[in-house]
Amino acid sequence: MTTDYNPFSPQTMNDPASNYQWLHAHAPVHYKADHEPPFYTLSKYADVEEALRDTDTYSSHWGQGPNFTPPMGMLSNAPQHTYYRRLVQPAFTPGAIADLAPRIERLAGDLLDKVSGGPVFDVHDDYAFPLPVIIISELLGVPEEDIQLFKDWSDASVEAMGAEDPTPWAAKLKELAAYQMAQIEERRGSDNPPDDLITMLVKVRRDGEPLPDEQILSVVNQLLVGGNETTTSLITNCVWRLLEQRELWEGVVADPTLIDTAIEESLRFDPPVLGLYRTTTREVTLHGVNIPENAKVMLHYAAANRDADVFPDPDAFSLDRPATRHMAFGLGIHFCLGAELARLEARLALKVLMERLPNLTLENTGERIKPFFLWGRRKLPVKAA
Ligand code: HEM
Repeated sequence: MTTDYNPFSPQTMNDPASNYQWLHAHAPVHYKADHEPPFYTLSKYADVEEALRDTDTYSSHWGQGPNFTPPMGMLSNAPQHTYYRRLVQPAFTPGAIADLAPRIERLAGDLLDKVSGGPVFDVHDDYAFPLPVIIISELLGVPEEDIQLFKDWSDASVEAMGAEDPTPWAAKLKELAAYQMAQIEERRGSDNPPDDLITMLVKVRRDGEPLPDEQILSVVNQLLVGGNETTTSLITNCVWRLLEQRELWEGVVADPTLIDTAIEESLRFDPPVLGLYRTTTREVTLHGVNIPENAKVMLHYAAANRDADVFPDPDAFSLDRPATRHMAFGLGIHFCLGAELARLEARLALKVLMERLPNLTLENTGERIKPFFLWGRRKLPVKAA
């Protein structure tokens, strides 16, 4: 039985959900003292919800990770957050996203054409990884031939974000910034720049001034990294759980109207972002624990998603649940800007995979991705027939 909770232990890394019922019962406000900086974890649904809504007390000013980082782009409080979010919002409206459906479905088919030669392929490497990266590259206007570079840089960004000491990734992050600066400079120097999100950010004037480079870089990064690893994880996690309980896979193959239900249950059961951080602006007392001012607090979406007060039989992956709001995309003013795009990509990825390869089986469960606050497969080998 769990006697304490360590988000970095091999057991937690391997199966984060094995701790959630213990956290709810014994440490709904958990304190991780032996971390630099120390941090608190909220795991009950009601507490995570309250913290996400109370942005005056739980501030985004010092970043979404365990370290204190300066406000950048949308990683900030209002009014800065409101300004940058409104700038990119038009690209993510339901209408704009729905227009991408034919392109996403065609791309899913093309990716499967490439793997159909052999019986074993990797759902992560060959399908779930390239699909969202290519789509977001097209939206941003960066060359998709460079997707392997984006993968390395995205991995470095999220590993650095979660690490006590991010210096091992500093060189890679400098490369990413230089690459993106080159994209920005290219558009600044062009009389006829392409019609894409980077050009939009370069052309914007705020009080007559262009946006500072580091703010453009932050917004571009959040779209590239946020739109990439997470959607890849949603697709791999969903395929993994359905194949693990084969009758569920077969049920969805027989009735594709269940695809959306499977995606929402996957987001509840295996959220790609386990939790993100806020910083307290005042002392808070919760469940008898005093959280001081200026403390880092992890809002554990994944643990909230397994709260038995909200989701009966929370540790069962079930396609029969009544629709209840899960936390996988956060809540409130920072609610994921790309939620509709992620859902559409996952829906079409599953649809095409099931139509083309209904007899798919799992070879093994591969391995987890590295950062402790994220959850997805780094490999997921499957057999096509
Ligand atoms: C399954 C896939 C995804 C998951 C699980 C996910 C998760 C999240 C979560 C939990 C937040 C809240 C952050 C906070 O509260 O501080 C968030 C915000 C955000 N996400 Fe996603 N995301 C996904 C896909 C995407 C995609 C495809 C994009 C864009 C292409 C995207 C762009 C963003 C942006 C820009 C924000 C910041 C919004 C704000 O602060 O106002 N995400 N995401």
